[in-house]
Amino acid sequence: MVVRGVHPAPVEIPDAVHALAGWYVGWGSVTPVWRNDLGGLTFRLEDAPLLHGPAPRPRPARYLKWVPADSPCPDPFAEAGRLAWARRFAAVPRVLDVGRGDDGAWLLTEELPGTSAIDPRWREHPRAAARAIGEGLRLLHDAAPVADCPFTWAPVARTSALPPEVRAAVGPPPPVDRRVVCHGDACVPNTLLHDDGTFAAHVDLGDLGVADRWSDLAVASRSIARRFQDPRLPAEFFAAYGVTPDPERIDYYRRLWDVVERHRKRLRQQPRGAA
Ligand SMILES: Nc1ncnc2c1ncn2[C@@H]1O[C@H](COP(=O)(O)OP(=O)(O)OP(=O)(O)O)[C@@H](O)[C@H]1O
Ligand SMILES: [Mg+2]
Repeated sequence: MVVRGVHPAPVEIPDAVHALAGWYVGWGSVTPVWRNDLGGLTFRLEDAPLLHGPAPRPRPARYLKWVPADSPCPDPFAEAGRLAWARRFAAVPRVLDVGRGDDGAWLLTEELPGTSAIDPRWREHPRAAARAIGEGLRLLHDAAPVADCPFTWAPVARTSALPPEVRAAVGPPPPVDRRVVCHGDACVPNTLLHDDGTFAAHVDLGDLGVADRWSDLAVASRSIARRFQDPRLPAEFFAAYGVTPDPERIDYYRRLWDVVERHRKRLRQQPRGAA
């Protein structure tokens, strides 16, 4: 196994990832591509060039997401179940493997064509990225059937693990506008774009579930404004999705997001077993 690439550096490769990568790619390459705020790491795995013979076609690259046992990230098994369900209706990665050991759990998916909207190349084309994220969410929300979806992302489920006083501070949700199957983490990095700047696919669906569509729209629009540092871009996003901004619901779902994320980060800082 060759470990290539240092971004984001430095990356300490967990022992289990060493073992898994050796198993999955042998002498291929392992490139760290992403570290999330909660201790999760994602690696891109590629077969060794020697195996890239003319026939049969080379295997597509794969992504190995590693979630340490003490991380409050969505569980890889939860994400695998959601990906398997959502694949019938939306462009999302194919699950190749999922597993758990003493130190953590992992998910292996097949690489989808496209580049993340967080890739530096899209800094030159932020309008295209904002619009593609809006188009992608509209496609998911329109295509995935609520009645068939076994997963929920409703506020009551998201706040059930919060201390009661925190839950009370968030307050009751506004009446539902439209129940859809939400992405659950519709931040900029989780949309892939084609080279021409159009929507390609969704990744990172560990929280996918049925909820008011504003749960996604509130978070996606804020992520776009922040990542591209342009307060005009949310208007592009909402236009591409095809909706007029709803300030009350946007405000509620952004507050809910922040409270849940703060809680997750606190859990991560506590020593193992303390929470
Ligand atoms: N199957 C795939 N095909 C293409 N790119 C992928 C795939 N899986 C993951 N990626 C890339 O790896 C990145 C990290 O994966 P993912 O978003 O699932 O990790 P995460 O740690 O949960 O992210 P976050 O910080 O948003 O919670 C994605 O933003 C995407 O660029
Ligand atoms: Mg992500």
